[in-house]
Amino acid sequence: MQDYHNFIAEILIDEQSIQTRIKELGEEISRDYKTKNLLLICILRGGIVFLVDLMRHITVPTQLDFMAVSSYGAGARQSGGSVRLSLDLKTDIRNKDVLLVEDIVDSGNTIAYVLEFLQTRQPRSLKVCTLLDKEERRETPVPIHYRGFSIPNKFVFGYGLDLDEYYRNLPFIAVVDLKKYQPPA
Ligand code: IMP
Ligand code: MG
Repeated sequence: MQDYHNFIAEILIDEQSIQTRIKELGEEISRDYKTKNLLLICILRGGIVFLVDLMRHITVPTQLDFMAVSSYGAGARQSGGSVRLSLDLKTDIRNKDVLLVEDIVDSGNTIAYVLEFLQTRQPRSLKVCTLLDKEERRETPVPIHYRGFSIPNKFVFGYGLDLDEYYRNLPFIAVVDLKKYQPPA
C-alpha cells in the first residue's frame, strides 16, 4: 500500500484536537443523559473509532449496540445512492434513549434512513451524535444533536473514515490529495 504521507493534502484535525473535543462531547452527553436509559448505537464501520473514545468519557450507565448500512448506486469515495440495512441490532430499543454515533454526516441520506427505521421500533428518544458534519453537502435535512466538528466539502480519511477501505486506523483526520493518491489495484 502507498504510504499515506505521499497523498495527504493537509491534516484537517489533529489527534489532540479530536481528543479534546470528544472529552467535551462525552461530558455534555453525561449531563444530558443522567436520568435516562442510554443506548449508544454505533453505525459500522466508520463510527467505531469515535465510539470507543467517546464512550470512555461517558459517566452514566450506558448500553452499546451496533448496526451497519450499505449504500448502493454510489461510486467509490462518494456517498449517496440508496441505503439499506446490512446488520441489525441485537437490542430491543423500546424505552431506550438511543444515541446514534456516526463518523460523518455528508448527504444526510444514511442518517435519515436509520432514523426513520429506528423510529418504527419506538425508542423513548432518538438522537444523533456525529464527529464530523459536512453541511454543505446535505441533500436530506437531518437533526444533529451532538457535533464534533463542521468541516468543508473535502474528502477526508483517518480516525474511522476510510479511503477505499484503508487508513481507518490513523489517529487524525486528513484531506486526501486525489492527484497524488493511487487507489489499490
Ligand atoms: P451520507 O449518507 O451521504 O451522509 O454519507 C455518510 C457516509 O458516507 C459516512 O458514514 C461515511 O461512511 C461516508 N463518507 C462521507 N463523506 C466521507 C469522507 O469524506 N470520507 C470518508 N467517508 C465519507
Ligand atoms: Mg459511515
